[in-house]
Amino acid sequence: MLEKVAELQSEVDNFKASKIEEIEQFRIAFLGKKGHLNDLFSAFKTIAPDQKKEFGKAINILKKSASDKVTLLKASLEDTLTQKNVYGDLTKPAEPILIGANHPITIVKNKIIDVFNRIGFSISEGPEIEDDWHNFTALNLPEHHPARDMQDTFFIATNPNILLRTHTSSVQVRHMETNTPPIRTISPGRVFRNEDISARSHCIFHQVEGLYIDTDVSFADLKQTLLYFTKEMFGKSKIRLRPSYFPFTEPSAEVDIYWGLETETDYKITKGTGWLEIMGCGMVDPNVLKNANIDSEKYTGYAFGMGIERIAMLLYQIPDIRMFYENDIRFLNQFKAVL
Ligand code: DAH
Repeated sequence: MLEKVAELQSEVDNFKASKIEEIEQFRIAFLGKKGHLNDLFSAFKTIAPDQKKEFGKAINILKKSASDKVTLLKASLEDTLTQKNVYGDLTKPAEPILIGANHPITIVKNKIIDVFNRIGFSISEGPEIEDDWHNFTALNLPEHHPARDMQDTFFIATNPNILLRTHTSSVQVRHMETNTPPIRTISPGRVFRNEDISARSHCIFHQVEGLYIDTDVSFADLKQTLLYFTKEMFGKSKIRLRPSYFPFTEPSAEVDIYWGLETETDYKITKGTGWLEIMGCGMVDPNVLKNANIDSEKYTGYAFGMGIERIAMLLYQIPDIRMFYENDIRFLNQFKAVL
């Protein structure tokens, strides 16, 4: 009889369960009405008196360990269940992480930076709130110069000397004031003009300015650099330079690229000519060099400036400049695949 008790005792000790039903089955088998313990207590009555003490002790231990086991297993199962409620099902695949997209202006700005970095241009930045000197006067636009009207300016009401920069050419001046030639830099940034908002123009937009100053810099260097840029940026290898006027460059030019006339959109955006204007450029006027304390006898340089929005609109066929600033998620999500 004692052997039978010992056998059941080791069964209790080794019992493990991961489901509530298994624990219940175990409880019924040992502690239920027709369970092992009831059988053993019945047998106890028929046992020889001299064995009663030892046998009684063994079945009491068995009973206690069986009921302790049930309590313990139930408690630990409940624990894991509540843990699951706290942390969720830890075996489930993870939630997808929502990845945003770069703004098309950022994408195009980075592309331009990349193209010029490869040929040794550094990046420079300047303040958006500028003074008259850096935005106009030093760039060969003295007070009352008619060309000041080309760029409708936002002035700070209390101080006509302080304004929101109308172009990133102001960074040229700042860079020349604090660096010595050779200078090779591009300056991306936000600019402001008091213009009506339409599909083609906005009062806040972005530009990239380029500046190269060294001994013997020629117009041919400028042309080659621009050709390299248009090839890299648009994959187009035909450009033309049309004579133009900017106060800070002499001679000045506007750069057109040959876009082609393959699709209806090409006809539309090039107005049937196949040519598209993408930037202004020229040889830095000696007056500008002098204003920034650079020896204009020794050094020459070229500069150029382009609008980032315009280039982004061409690259991604965006029909309306206002789309850049509306933050419509359906528009922005389309740039997810572009890095
Ligand atoms: N600053 C001019 C603008 O905002 C763009 C520009 C034209 C910049 C010619 C230049 C340049 O550096 O040489 O329209």
